[in-house]
Amino acid sequence: MSEQWIRVTECENIPPREGRAVLLGDREIAIFNLGDRFLAVDGRCPHQGGPLCDGIVAGNAVVCPLHGWKVNLESGAIERPANSKVCVPTYATKVEGGVVLLSLTPTPELRSATL
Ligand code: FES
Repeated sequence: MSEQWIRVTECENIPPREGRAVLLGDREIAIFNLGDRFLAVDGRCPHQGGPLCDGIVAGNAVVCPLHGWKVNLESGAIERPANSKVCVPTYATKVEGGVVLLSLTPTPELRSATL
């Protein structure tokens, strides 16, 4: 199956070190501007559904605004609390002509994490 890219928003709509939520069908996805790239993960925290787009960006991770779980935005792994067994789905992004595009095909990390 070929990868399908969806135009999401202009880059300037997501300030550096911040996230924004987008709704694609019934899926809420949080997209973050790390300054030199954009990263996307499922929008809801796996703990109790907190809005990850409103979290504090710290390095390549985001800290959930509700109870402080720390989610790695590249792998979807939970960095805090340690030894968490859950993982947040991540999505590939790219920029074309000043627009952020998102792939809804799960990343290889997600495929292996859900086996
Ligand atoms: S809902 Fe995110 S840490 Fe609790």
